[in-house]
Order: sequence, then C-alpha cells, then structure tokens
Amino acid sequence: MKPMKLIILSDIHYTGAAERARGNDYELQAIQHPFMRWLAGRYRRHIWMRYPMGRAAFLDRFLAEAGPADAVVVDGDHSGNSAFIGLSDPASLASAQECLAKIAARYGDKAHFVFGDHELGKVAMFSGQGGMYLASWQACTEQLGLKRFWQVTLGNYVLMGVTSPLLALPASQSDTQPGEWPEWQRLRAEHLAEIRAAFDALQPQQRVLLFCHDPTALPFLHEEESVRRRLPQIEHTIIGHLHSDLILWKSRLLAWVPPISFMGHTVKKMSSALSQSRAWRPFRVKLCPALAGIELLDDGGYFTVTLDPEAQKPAEFVFHRLRRPPE
Ligand SMILES: [Fe+2]
Ligand SMILES: [Fe+2]
Repeated sequence: MKPMKLIILSDIHYTGAAERARGNDYELQAIQHPFMRWLAGRYRRHIWMRYPMGRAAFLDRFLAEAGPADAVVVDGDHSGNSAFIGLSDPASLASAQECLAKIAARYGDKAHFVFGDHELGKVAMFSGQGGMYLASWQACTEQLGLKRFWQVTLGNYVLMGVTSPLLALPASQSDTQPGEWPEWQRLRAEHLAEIRAAFDALQPQQRVLLFCHDPTALPFLHEEESVRRRLPQIEHTIIGHLHSDLILWKSRLLAWVPPISFMGHTVKKMSSALSQSRAWRPFRVKLCPALAGIELLDDGGYFTVTLDPEAQKPAEFVFHRLRRPPE
C-alpha cells in the first residue's frame, strides 16, 4: 500500500473584514490600567504578534502552496476572537466561517477541524475581559458545524479530534457564566463518554494520532482509565495553542514552578496548568506552531506527515515554514 499524506495546521486566527475593522490594537484598548497596557503593548510588539489582524494572508499562502492530501487537520483557534467571547460574537463567527470555507473549498470533506479555546471565549490575559459562553458553543456546533469529537481511519492509523476546553473545564470554571455551569458539565460528561468508547474500541494493530488544541486538557484525559490503557498506542498528540516551540520549551521548564495564586486570575490558571504539565509526557506531545508563528521568532508554518498505512514505520513529520513578508 502506498504511503498516505496528512497535512496539519493550527492557530490560524483568521480575521475577516468585520474583525479587521476593530484594528490591531483591539486588545490594548480593552486594558484599563496604563502600566498593564504598556506592558501588553511591549509583549505584543516584540514577542507574541504585532499585527494580529494580518494573519489571514498566511492562510491564502498555505492554500496556494500546500499540495493534495488524504486528510487535513486544523488544530483549533480559527478566528481572531477579538471580542474575547468566542464565536457568539458575529464578527468572530464570520471570520471562522470564512476561514473554514476556504479550507473546505480546497480539501472538501478531507478537512477536519478541532475546537480551540478561542472558539468558546475566555477571560483575556491582560484586560480581564470576556469569558466562555454557551452561546459560542451553539454558534460553533450549529452554525460553524464543528464536531466535539471526530475520528478518521487511514489504514492502521486512527486520527482523533477532541475538545480541550471541555476536557479542561474544571480549570476554567471562573471563565464561565453563572447559571451555565451545569450545562457545561453535562457537555463534558458526554464528551468523556464518547472518548472512552473510542479508545475502548481501538484494535491492537491501530496507532492513534490525537489532536487536542490545548495541552492543559491532557492531565484530565490521563485521569481516564480507557485512555491510560491505550497510551502505548498513541504515537503522537498534536497540540496547538502555544503558537511556538519556544513556549512549549518554556512550559516544560515551568512545570517545576508551583501554582502562583497572588497575581490574578490568568496567572493562577496558567501556573496551575503548567504545574500539571509533567502529565503531558506519556501523550508524546508534538506542537504544531501557529500558521503565522510568533513575532519574536517568525516561526510559523505547517506540517506534512507521511503515514505508512500498515503503521509499521513511524509517521514522518516535515515542517514547512511560512516566513513573514518584509514590511
Ligand atoms: Fe491560538
Ligand atoms: Fe488556543
């Protein structure tokens, strides 16, 4: 049997016209405190992303250069989420719809999409604005057509997509709205049940490529006996969310720092997650960087993966860098 080709890209953060109209400084404008605004501005400009509204062009470049594939996986964070409430914001929903439509026009039903945290919304790091809304869940599932769980079989490989914001829900209660918590918990319980069933149904010769946007979810998956038993069959877990291998490396380093509770909501949430990051190891984590990379390293791009249908040889990952155009 001839080898099969998989393409993986992540964190496109595509912005359509309505989001772009908010301008590149939308996040800074939401910050009340002048010092925090200054700090966030430095961080945005030099480390994370100077022009967050300029990422759509990277998708067009990807589509122009990437060849055919047996499957394409987009590993979460499809829009700019510039209102911080996920896709219940009509402008963010329009961005995500445009993004997915472009990919579907090229790859049809071979394209599979994973939920990221920005699809559902969360409290923003510097401004403290926004949150996670059930209305965004409805926009994702009913209007955008995202699936909470999916799997695709390619020879002896099983690709599985899971929804990390649901799995990591216990760490995000403060991002959710009063009154919506029981429904979030119900959605999470259903999700865990479908994941358990899928892992229980794996055949011994099958190998898994697991797609989980945010690695914070992995310690929660590890609590599941059905998943733990099948860990040797997970060849890789492909995460996004961290945008750069630099951040993944830093996360591993910070795994030894205890949770910090005196510096506000986001620092507490992030440091608690990092203190659990040693549990990522048995999942054989591989980061797919953001399509546009981060400002500091200009390290964006996507993977092509060659799969042996018999799964006798390990999957071969090749990274294709998409450099920023000169200003
Ligand atoms: Fe992202
Ligand atoms: Fe993310």
